[in-house]
Amino acid sequence: MRLLVTGGAGFIGANFVLRVRETRPDWQVTVLDAVTYAANLSSLDPVIDDIHLVKGSVADADLVDDLVGRHDAVVHFAADSHNDNSLDDPWPFVETNVVGTYRLLEAVRRHGTRLHHVSTDEVYGDLELGDPQRFTEQTPVNPSSPYSATKASSDLLVRAWGRSFGIEATISNCSNNYGPRQHVEKFIPRQVTGVLEGIRPKLYGAGANVRDWIHVDDHNDAVVMILERGTPGETYLIGADGEMSNREVVAMILELMGKPADWFDHVPDRPGHDLRYAIDSTKLRAELGWEPRYTTFRDGLAATIEWYRANPEWWRTARVTSETTYARLGR
Ligand code: NAD
Ligand code: DAU
Repeated sequence: MRLLVTGGAGFIGANFVLRVRETRPDWQVTVLDAVTYAANLSSLDPVIDDIHLVKGSVADADLVDDLVGRHDAVVHFAADSHNDNSLDDPWPFVETNVVGTYRLLEAVRRHGTRLHHVSTDEVYGDLELGDPQRFTEQTPVNPSSPYSATKASSDLLVRAWGRSFGIEATISNCSNNYGPRQHVEKFIPRQVTGVLEGIRPKLYGAGANVRDWIHVDDHNDAVVMILERGTPGETYLIGADGEMSNREVVAMILELMGKPADWFDHVPDRPGHDLRYAIDSTKLRAELGWEPRYTTFRDGLAATIEWYRANPEWWRTARVTSETTYARLGR
């Protein structure tokens, strides 16, 4: 298998490449990544001699066409991924997430290459707090932020290219990932690295918003499974029954890091902040037999905290930059 991984220097993509090298050592892996602020090439250090790394954009039609033509399959992680940034400057999100996906689809159509498109539960909008309802593959898209609107747009393009042009594509929509190598702008790494630097966690608004946490390796195992055994044209929701409020997550971080339970601050809320995400992953479990391996969030979180404690050189510079942005945004 000659596999092209877009966005393979970011959080989920890099963990995917590391895991694929471990579990599918015979696959030849090429990473296409624009190496934006969100990438960290050192994440790929353990495998850098075994993969091919191309620095470039998924929005570059010629480059994408050439690379797609030389691979059997593409897993498409590349995206601008942070909601707060999309509220500040939406254009890069449109360019990478919409135009980039379009370029990839056209190349896949020309070359008959298998595509797996990695997407998010945020395309479905949000659910009420305390409502037993969860997202399923039948939930209509209803995105709230510029980020989620561009991801929903990319999902719709993939579906249309499947139906109209018969490309061999699957889609997955996953819930909030946590684990090692996640950019420090994101909720869990921001709080963990803050505590390591003596800074109190920051909760948007009341902290009641709920996210459905899944370990990044569980997400990536599902992606490999869908790539190998998923049915083209189908969408699969990926989630590990990990619903927790942001307040509960901060309480666990403080406890695991030996800080008092009230050692956090409330900061102004994110505009349009989605209340709750929750995934029903019955289809993935029933059809492909996927099960998460990280079933105790507390253990996965403790291991993640230890990873950030052990790897300050991985995050220190990025944290200075992202905290400068947060200071400007007042969050
Ligand atoms: P990330 O921001 O950590 O990484 C994104 C990577 O894409 C970076 O390496 C960046 O350099 C690269 N990139 C950005 N623009 C590019 C371009 N034009 N061309 C090529 N590469 C480009 O994001 P992540 O959290 O790893 O998310 C990866 C994918 O998974 C995204 O598609 C995201 O929508 C999806 N997703 C994320 C989560 C989550 O919780 N983080 C959950 C579900 C789905
Ligand atoms: O649901 C999947 C999505 O999860 C992915 O598609 C996105 O790429 C990914 O960034 C993530 O989106 P969220 O907006 O849910 O993640 P974020 O880490 O930014 O925030 C998680 C929650 O924590 C959210 O309710 C906002 C809140 N938050 C965030 C930060 C950075 C805080 O309370 N304080 C903070 O400092």
